Amino acid sequence: MTRKRVGILISGRGSNMAALIEATHAKDYPAEIILVISNRPDASGIKFAESKGIATAIVDHKKFASREAFDAALQHELAAAKIEIVCLAGFMRVLTDDFVKSWQGRMLNIHPSLLPAFKGTQTHKRVLEAGAKIHGATVHFVVPKLDSGPVVMQAEVPVLPGDDEEKLATRVIQAEHRIYPVALRLLAEGRLKIAGEKVIVAA
Ligand code: GRF
Repeated sequence: MTRKRVGILISGRGSNMAALIEATHAKDYPAEIILVISNRPDASGIKFAESKGIATAIVDHKKFASREAFDAALQHELAAAKIEIVCLAGFMRVLTDDFVKSWQGRMLNIHPSLLPAFKGTQTHKRVLEAGAKIHGATVHFVVPKLDSGPVVMQAEVPVLPGDDEEKLATRVIQAEHRIYPVALRLLAEGRLKIAGEKVIVAA
């Protein structure tokens, strides 16, 4: 089995990154994490990746004059590591359309809501304010429009009486950690076909 070479982009603690790394330890997992890149030098996820012996890189967006120059530096790192699939995992920079298009069908993101509901940030707070009873997480292909690509996999969690943002966030992140490795497995196995706005999963 040739494992797909995966690069993960993070900005923070990287708990989804850790879940993906953990999953790749299974013998039959069809992908391996080759490189973790952070745009923030202080991202704690970087230390975790290093502790697992994974190559890391810091591409600090503050050191680049434009989004194009920043994205070019990312591309350079990904190409040098021969990355085939990119996973965004709490990566808090908007990527240029050209970058996104170059990874079309090969770049996943995880978002803490049941898309297309609650795009953007502060999803747990907004879900509570809206009085929604169901919340969750979504893995989707990345397209130029934010939080809008074809949905690969979702998990729902209940919103319970007495929930605050923290309680809800804890429930959702556990769901994230369950579905992201499964979605990456399906992509790495070549079982995901994008048909317009939808993803068809081959048996
Ligand atoms: C997750 O909630 C993810 O859905 C969102 O950012 C958060 C990142 O958390 N995109 P972590 O860095 O993976 O712990």
